[in-house]
Amino acid sequence: MKKLAIFASGNGSNFEALAAACAEGRIDAEVALCVCDKAGAYVIERAAKYGVEVLVFNPKEYGSKAEYERLVADRMDTLGIDLVCLAGYMRIVGDELLGRYGGKIVNIHPSLLPAFVGAHAIQDAFDYGVKVFGVTIHYVDQTLDGGKIISQVAVPYEGGDVEELEAMIHKAEHRLYVDTVNKLIE
Ligand code: GAR
Repeated sequence: MKKLAIFASGNGSNFEALAAACAEGRIDAEVALCVCDKAGAYVIERAAKYGVEVLVFNPKEYGSKAEYERLVADRMDTLGIDLVCLAGYMRIVGDELLGRYGGKIVNIHPSLLPAFVGAHAIQDAFDYGVKVFGVTIHYVDQTLDGGKIISQVAVPYEGGDVEELEAMIHKAEHRLYVDTVNKLIE
C-alpha cells in the first residue's frame, strides 16, 4: 500500500479529509506521517485521533532550512513515503526536500492559481471582488504556491459573507484533495 506524508501548520481539516478517506478505504493508501512546524497546532490532535505518527519541529531551533528538512526527509526515507501532500503547510519547501522528493510533493491552495498566492488567498480574492473562486492542487517548486497545476475546481460565489465562502472553499478542497490523491497514486 502506498504511503503518504501530510505536512500542515495549523487546523488540519485537509489532513483529516485525507486521513479519513484512507481509513475508510476511499483512498488506497496509508497516512504514515504528519509533519508539523508548530507545536500546539490542532492538526497534531487530529493525527493522534487517526493513530498517525507526528513529526513536530520548531524551525527556529535549527541553523538552516536544510537542517530541519534533512531530519524530515530522513524520517520519510525510513518510512518509505511515496507522496507528500502539503495541506496548509505555510513554508516554502527548500532544496533538501525538493532534491530528495521532487516531483512527489503536491500542495493545495484556496484560489484558482496563478491568481492570489500567499497565506490569505480567500480574503484577498473576496476583497478584490472575485465572483468565481476556487481551489488548486499543484506540484511544488521553490516558489510561493508555484509549480505545475494538477487539478482545479471553481467555486462560484457572489454573496457577501466571507465565512460562508470559506466554508464552501474548504468543502471543495477536501473533495478535490481526495480525488486528486487517488489519481496520483494509481
Ligand atoms: C487550506 O485552505 C489550504 O488551501 C491553505 O491553508 C488552509 C489550511 O486549512 N493553504 C494555503 O493557503 C497555502 N498557500 P486546513 O489546516 O484546515 O487544512
